[in-house]
Amino acid sequence: MRRLRATAGLRGLVRETELRASQLVLPLFVADAQARGGHDREPIESMPGVARLSLSAAVAEAEEAAGLGLAGVMLFGIPAEKDEQGSGAWDEEGAVQLAVRAIKQAVPELLVMTDVCLCEYTSHGHCGVLRAAVSHARAGTDVVAPSDMMDGRVAAIREELDGEGFAETPILAYSAKFASAFYGPFREAADSTPAFGDRRAYQMDPANGREAVREALLDVGEGADMVMVKPALAYGDLIRAVAEATGMPVAAYNVSGEYAMVKAAAAAGYLDEQATVLEILTSLRRAGADTIITYHAKDAARWLAEET
Ligand code: PBG
Repeated sequence: MRRLRATAGLRGLVRETELRASQLVLPLFVADAQARGGHDREPIESMPGVARLSLSAAVAEAEEAAGLGLAGVMLFGIPAEKDEQGSGAWDEEGAVQLAVRAIKQAVPELLVMTDVCLCEYTSHGHCGVLRAAVSHARAGTDVVAPSDMMDGRVAAIREELDGEGFAETPILAYSAKFASAFYGPFREAADSTPAFGDRRAYQMDPANGREAVREALLDVGEGADMVMVKPALAYGDLIRAVAEATGMPVAAYNVSGEYAMVKAAAAAGYLDEQATVLEILTSLRRAGADTIITYHAKDAARWLAEET
């Protein structure tokens, strides 16, 4: 077996899996001024290199992402004030809606995806979907990505979008989203830790694989254009199972805690960051992910460009 591993040329000749910047999506947190302490970029302590951004900082990030050849950005909004209904989620002048318009204007070729969920907007930190998807589409998002895990939401959003004249807007369904400890740093970033209880009554039990496939098939039946498995690193088996069962494009979300683990270990000198990140992202592609949403996207794109 070693004959074909001897040189870079031979290894490249038989490499089964390719990782390209154009398969990566960078998540961005766009925040109202109060939610970032008035700063242009308010660092998120548990996610070194990631910050809560002003509108102009988000546009600058998007331009950088486009320059690096990334597929797109996934936007999360952090409002100044939360309420019981999460009404900021469909505010036409909300942080996400403003950012979608500004980014599409500055870099039209970069895909903009928007997370449709209310946990960042509700005072109690729980999810549930109402009018946000249409307001994102109206702002010009390329893809809406409902992440709330409510039953029937893909069909409801599809119907709503079609009725409002957005039949062309694709839905990336967070189909198999697990109730995971790996979301910890995101909840710091979005200040969305549930004020009571947890999300186990709507997000999936990490012990269940067959159920993940059923969730994905249900979303496909309801009209999803792409399906997602989240988190990614501990769920490679389900990326593969969902890809095979649905035959749909699959996204894997390499979440905040997975990012934080690598950053912390690299900072401590325990791991080589570049080698670790590229190995992880390649493994997700090998598992069957077409697209990877990852906070490492910019670094990975730079490293991939150096390699070639
Ligand atoms: C919900 C949402 C979450 C993430 C993406 N969308 C948090 C949650 O369900 O608690 C987590 C992403 C990450 O950890 O990087 N709006």
